[in-house]
Amino acid sequence: MTMKIADLTFEPLIEEEAIAKRINLMSAQLNADYEGKTPIFIGVLNGSFLFVADLIKQVTIPCEVTFTKLASYYGGTTSTRKIREDIDLSVDISGRHIVIMEDIVDTGNTLSYLIEKLKLHSPASIRVCSLLLKPGKLEISIEELRYVGFEIENEFVVGYGLDYKELGRNLRSIYRLIS
Ligand code: XMP
Ligand code: MG
Repeated sequence: MTMKIADLTFEPLIEEEAIAKRINLMSAQLNADYEGKTPIFIGVLNGSFLFVADLIKQVTIPCEVTFTKLASYYGGTTSTRKIREDIDLSVDISGRHIVIMEDIVDTGNTLSYLIEKLKLHSPASIRVCSLLLKPGKLEISIEELRYVGFEIENEFVVGYGLDYKELGRNLRSIYRLIS
């Protein structure tokens, strides 16, 4: 079943049920790893909003949830390497355990920019939890990247928070671009 979004055609890659199952496992891991720690989950908007919402409902330890907004894609299907900061972090993270929540790690540029920025405020620890990772496109090795939902090929995906030209964020499954 293909899906047309704006001028491009997509096909299903990861179904809703598979996403839910994976998120259950990831949250169980986080509950175990952060027991007794009260971490701050920082979602990177816009793409991570559904992932954060679904994962956080399965987190049973005390935790805080906040968001920051960064963008490195400007509506196309390839990374621009330019990072724009739209919403600054308002919480004090010094001495706190931070879990950055990302929709997808592609080149890694957005993430390493955010990690370096957060480190300036002396958190106790920083780890990254990303729903998707394109290992073949990673340009920077990120030791903080501890939790990954799915590794995918070097392909453009939409759905479950991810967009093409701001469309498709509402889709329940993840779709890949048919080239
Ligand atoms: P970098 O290259 O900095 O990019 O790791 C990370 C950000 O780029 C966006 N991105 C995508 N968005 N489909 C999307 O809708 C994709 O396949 C894709 N790959 C990267 C995303 O916002 C991510 O945070
Ligand atoms: Mg993003």
